[in-house]
Amino acid sequence: MAGKIRSVFFCQECGYESSKWVGQCPACKSWNSMVEELVDKKTTKTLSRDTSGAKPLTISQITASSEERIQTGIGELDRVLGGGIVTGSMILVGGDPGIGKSTLLLQVARELSSRSISIMYISGEESLQQIRMRADRIGDFSDSLILLAETNLDIIEAVIDKAKPRVAVIDSIQTMISDDVASAAGSVSQVRESTARLMRLAKDKNITIFVVGHVTKEGVVAGPRVLEHMVDTVLYFEGERHASYRILRGVKNRFGSTNEIGVFEMSESGLREVANPSEYMLDGKPEGASGSVVACSIEGTRPLLIEIQALVSHSAFNMPRRTATGCDANRVNLLIAVIEKRLGLRLGDHDAYVNIAGGIRMNEPAIDLGLVLALVSSFRERPIDEKMLCFGEVGLSGEVRSVSQASARVSEAAKLGFESVMLPESSLRSIEKPPKGLKLIGVRTIAEAVDNM
Ligand code: TYD
Ligand code: MG
Repeated sequence: MAGKIRSVFFCQECGYESSKWVGQCPACKSWNSMVEELVDKKTTKTLSRDTSGAKPLTISQITASSEERIQTGIGELDRVLGGGIVTGSMILVGGDPGIGKSTLLLQVARELSSRSISIMYISGEESLQQIRMRADRIGDFSDSLILLAETNLDIIEAVIDKAKPRVAVIDSIQTMISDDVASAAGSVSQVRESTARLMRLAKDKNITIFVVGHVTKEGVVAGPRVLEHMVDTVLYFEGERHASYRILRGVKNRFGSTNEIGVFEMSESGLREVANPSEYMLDGKPEGASGSVVACSIEGTRPLLIEIQALVSHSAFNMPRRTATGCDANRVNLLIAVIEKRLGLRLGDHDAYVNIAGGIRMNEPAIDLGLVLALVSSFRERPIDEKMLCFGEVGLSGEVRSVSQASARVSEAAKLGFESVMLPESSLRSIEKPPKGLKLIGVRTIAEAVDNM
């Protein structure tokens, strides 16, 4: 039934809908994010809808079924998902093009199908031959995996309905087309409609659906941010395109904790799990170089050791340059101000560059102490003991404040062969059994920390 076609404007960032174009989205305040779309306004079918079916229940009337989980067999992914995929849930896997989303999901398909769990991989981006070529790099596949190259959701729904797989992969949501919507594939309304239909399919048929979504710079394709509200779980695949490792980060999970990360390495034959990420992140740390220190950040439930590098050099300009890669630049500026004021070091006429080695992003305040030590070490050209790890939050008065899970961090240091750990004095108490051979240095202020550097 053809309805009246009207044009509306959608925010690419958050999906806000407006009848006229505006420069700034009133909802998420992003600039220049509104795009025009044609929407087929169908006559709503409210009259024919059966309204007698809905019946409210009390909590105790609902039978609580503990969610059923299927382990994917890829440990790092299972961890991020909170212990496997929940049947009937919808999981969005987002990330830049080329980061490895299709590879990861094809490997999931391989693992599940090898255990005779039926899975259907639907690609709207690649031909079956292209998928075959990727599959050949990964390994042998069982016949429990079926492939389909299709973009039309009506057809996909019909095929899924007939084949009844337990898990389905949609690669990618931006290529899917729902005939009910007039606008082009990849537009906000098309992506939203497709997601809503797949979500219904997942819940009705109790199948788990993985959906791939590209994160693209503003422009043609709707970002998966629009979908984040709709799906059960959102995972982001990140990493430098030039580096081989990839981080899978959970940012929303209705069935588990978020902020858990999984670490992978892209190899010649697909993604490989990195069992000991700290070791991996510290690989290649320079010896005896000033401005380099190892800090510890808790990612989800797991401590991760990372190398912080700082370069402080005399500035040739009136306005010194300050840049931070992998951590919050405002935080670095704040810490530089604290160093100036509390340690009396004159950094005002110095450029300062800070980098978290390996290209990973860290935002936990526990790396503050590491940032301070790296900056001071580079400023004074004094290397820091390579066998020392440090963590602690730094306050505006230069005090070193306690952080959570101090003992987990200390044990990780012991595991990786560090000889000493510099930590907030107040965190010392929470460490019941310090590992043998590990020296714990409790500090109260950054002045004390620098003295022990
Ligand atoms: P892909 O999964 O196609 O990325 P996405 O679906 O996120 O766009 O991965 C693409 C990159 O991974 C590509 O540059 C090739 C590389 N790759 C490998 O290095 N090794 C492999 O075994 C595979 C399958 C891909
Ligand atoms: Mg792909």
